[in-house]
Amino acid sequence: MTLQLTRMEEDGQLIFRFEDSDCDLSGVIVVDSLALGPATGGCRFWHYDDAAAMLSDARRLARGMSYKNAMAGLPLGGGKSVIRRPDGTFDRAALFRAFGRVLEEIGGDYLAAEDVGTTPRDMEVVRSQTPFVFGLPADADQAGGDPSPWTALGVFLSIAHVCARRGRPLSQSRIAVQGLGSVGADLCRRLQGAGAALVVADVHPEAAERLRTTIPVEVVSPAAIHASDVDLFAPCALGAGLNEVTIPQMRARLVAGAANNQLATQADATLLHERGILYVPDFVANAGGIINVAAEYLGHDRGMVHDAVHRIPGRLAQVLDRAEASRTSPAQVADVMARELIARATGAMAENEGKRPL
Ligand code: NAI
Repeated sequence: MTLQLTRMEEDGQLIFRFEDSDCDLSGVIVVDSLALGPATGGCRFWHYDDAAAMLSDARRLARGMSYKNAMAGLPLGGGKSVIRRPDGTFDRAALFRAFGRVLEEIGGDYLAAEDVGTTPRDMEVVRSQTPFVFGLPADADQAGGDPSPWTALGVFLSIAHVCARRGRPLSQSRIAVQGLGSVGADLCRRLQGAGAALVVADVHPEAAERLRTTIPVEVVSPAAIHASDVDLFAPCALGAGLNEVTIPQMRARLVAGAANNQLATQADATLLHERGILYVPDFVANAGGIINVAAEYLGHDRGMVHDAVHRIPGRLAQVLDRAEASRTSPAQVADVMARELIARATGAMAENEGKRPL
C-alpha cells in the first residue's frame, strides 16, 4: 500500500493532499467549513496543467460549496475533492477504490458525491471502501443517484423566475446554453418543453449533434456562444466563463446557469452589474444536486427533494429583492447572506464548544 496523505491548514481551509502511485491517484480535498455540518461537495475528475491549478480550483470550489449549502438551508459545511485525471490508460476502479480509502482515512469531515468527470458508478466503487460518499443509485422513492437532473430542475426554475421578473415568459425567450453535459442537455430539454428558443454550444461537437437530433436547437461555436443575441445566457460548462473578455461582448441581459464559479473574479460581478446584466448567483441556482445528495445523507425521500428544489426560486427572489433595494450586484448580496448564515452557525457552535468551525 503506497497511499500518502498529508494535512495542512491555510487561510482557514483544511487541505488534504493524497497520492497513491500504485494506481496513479493524486489529488486534493479541501474542507472549507464545518460550521453547519460535514464538509460536502462533489469529486471532480479532470486534467490539470499543474498541482497549483488543481489546488486553486479545489479551494474556490470548496468555498462555493460552503455558500451553496448554507443558502440551501442544508445541515452541511463546504468542501470539494479534485482528482487529477491520469494521462494515458489507467485502472478507473482501482483509482476510485484508492480515493475511497482516502475518505475513510479522513474519517467523515468530508463527504463526496459526483461532479464533473465522475459518475454514480464511480461513487459505488468509492462506497466499497467507505460510508463517506453519496450520489449512489437508490430505490424508486429514496433520494440518491445522479444529482444532475435535480441541478437542471433548480436552474430551470431559476431561469423561469428571472425571465418572469423581466416580464418575459419562457415561451417568448431566446436562451443560449453553454455546455451540453449532464446538466446542460437536461436543462435544454426542459427549456424547449416550456417553449424557449435555444442557441447551444459545446467544445465536443458530438454533444451538440446528439442534442440536435432530439430537439430543435441552433448550434453555434463555443467561442461565440456567450455573445449570442439572446435574452438569457446559461453557463453550464466549467467555471470562470464570465470574465473581463466575455462580459463586454455579451448581449444577453440575464445570466443564470449551472456552472460553479462562473465569475472569474469578484470584480466581474460589478462589471455585469454596471452593464445592467442581471446575474443569478451560481450557488443559489445550482443547489438542486446537493439538495439531492443531502437528502440521501439524511435518509429523505424524493418528494422532499422535489419540494426543496422548488424552494430555490423563493430564495433567489430574496437575493434579487435585496440586491435591487441596495443597488448592488446579486453576487455580492448572495455572498453576504451565505456568510451571515455560516457566521450564525459558527457563533452557536462556539457557544456550545462543539466541533471546530473552520
Ligand atoms: P459535464 O461534464 O457532464 O458537462 C460539461 C459539458 O461542458 C461537457 O459536455 C463539456 O464538453 C462542455 N464544455 C466544457 N468546456 C466548455 C466550453 N468552454 N464551452 C462549451 N462547452 C464546454 O458536467 P455537468 O455535470 O453537466 O456540470 C456542468 C457544470 O455545472 C459544472 O460546472 C459543474 O460543476 C456544475 N454543477 C453540476 C452539478 C451536477 O449535479 N452535475 C451540480 C452543481 C453544479
